[in-house]
Amino acid sequence: MRTFQEQRHYEAATPKSRALHQQADQYLAGGETRTSAFWSPYPVTIARGQGCHVWDVDGNDRIDFVNNFTTLVHGHNHPTVLKVIQEQLSQGTSFFGPSEPQLKLAKLLCERVPSVERIRFTSSGTEATMNCVRAARAFTGRTKIAKCEGGYHGTHEALAVSVQPSSLAVLGRAERPNQVPADVGLPQSVIENVVVLPYNNTEAARQLLTEHHKELAAVFLEPMLGSGGMIPADPEYLAMLRSVTSKYGILLVFDEVITFQVATGGAQEWYNIKPDMTAFGKIIGGGLAAGAFGGRKDVMAVYEHQQGPAPLNHAGTFNGHPLAMAAGIATFQMLTPAAHERLNALGDRLRQQVQQLCNELETPAQVTGLGPLFGIHFTRQPVRSYRDVLTVGTQFRHEVFLGLLNEGVFLYPTMLGSLSTAITEKEVDTLTAALRRVLVRLTR
Ligand SMILES: Cc1ncc(COP(=O)(O)O)c(C=O)c1O
Repeated sequence: MRTFQEQRHYEAATPKSRALHQQADQYLAGGETRTSAFWSPYPVTIARGQGCHVWDVDGNDRIDFVNNFTTLVHGHNHPTVLKVIQEQLSQGTSFFGPSEPQLKLAKLLCERVPSVERIRFTSSGTEATMNCVRAARAFTGRTKIAKCEGGYHGTHEALAVSVQPSSLAVLGRAERPNQVPADVGLPQSVIENVVVLPYNNTEAARQLLTEHHKELAAVFLEPMLGSGGMIPADPEYLAMLRSVTSKYGILLVFDEVITFQVATGGAQEWYNIKPDMTAFGKIIGGGLAAGAFGGRKDVMAVYEHQQGPAPLNHAGTFNGHPLAMAAGIATFQMLTPAAHERLNALGDRLRQQVQQLCNELETPAQVTGLGPLFGIHFTRQPVRSYRDVLTVGTQFRHEVFLGLLNEGVFLYPTMLGSLSTAITEKEVDTLTAALRRVLVRLTR
């Protein structure tokens, strides 16, 4: 591999981004404000987006396969979404009290997702999963939470265990993974309350759940590991989780912050599994900050105002933000079954083309994903869990990522991506052609 060849080209093409990053270093801790959106040597500063394109401050135009990490399902600046935001904006920005758009989006989501009988809004996916933890504990009276190795559920502490450790050495046995704190300073009491399940290992996970069933309030998982690699769950794994949790009165919580876009009713519709609770985020705010969580009526009754205050508090200054609710409604109105079908067909085309290309160039690769969501993993090993992703050579992956930026194609730094309805077959073909040039440059 030609080390740093792509990085040199990247630096030469992005001097303004480099200068802005150096300035940012003097004010923002770490020079940025979203850990996952930093990459070495510095991220590009984005000036604007339109449709499926983004432009950085140096004027480089790139096709956007990140879409604010799976959020902008209709691309940037969709005129219908902009129009409803402007209309709502003319009424004011935010209020101390409910607004009609909140009710409309709640109805729309409950109608799309039969498992969600009652819902509440937050400002982020992090708050959505955090409130699912609190509701599950309040409802069951139990404390422990089981989650999958490689699963990311936001930045609160309760699920910050075995998220995406950077080395295989710390993970422990595959059937009985170690509880690896995601961050420095995580209290031991938090770590002890998390049971880590091996992803896609049905029998080992069943065994762990059976052992801990008396203490478990909930099992959390993304029905397809998202930032852990866009790795779909085996249907039998999900079926086992559903049956074991039902048997022991443990709540099954799907984190659909990323996966909601694979079908009208999300991944739970795709797999035909009904969880007890669901966390939402990203696309539901139409590009503005929003999250939501909901589920069974009896579980969500912890928020009911009966004779006095509700048993569980869920406040938030910007919960159900009217601008985000309006943008979310417009987004879903355009996300018809036909739109899903088209996005999913494009996703299949991308996965097939990229896999074929890597086979032809003899670059070991596994292309994963579901619907419009995809992951490209440079490894010979079939990718079924986060452990498999750790077999990828990170230096090579980073060079490919920078190489694609140099070619005018924007993917997430670990080679994940999503499609938007602004993308056509032409852009998918452009991605494949760009990847061919990058792989040839790096390997020949
Ligand atoms: C599956 C999943 N859950 C939760 C979150 C947290 O959402 P937010 O970044 O809106 O807090 C993310 C963010 O990427 C996510 O991918």
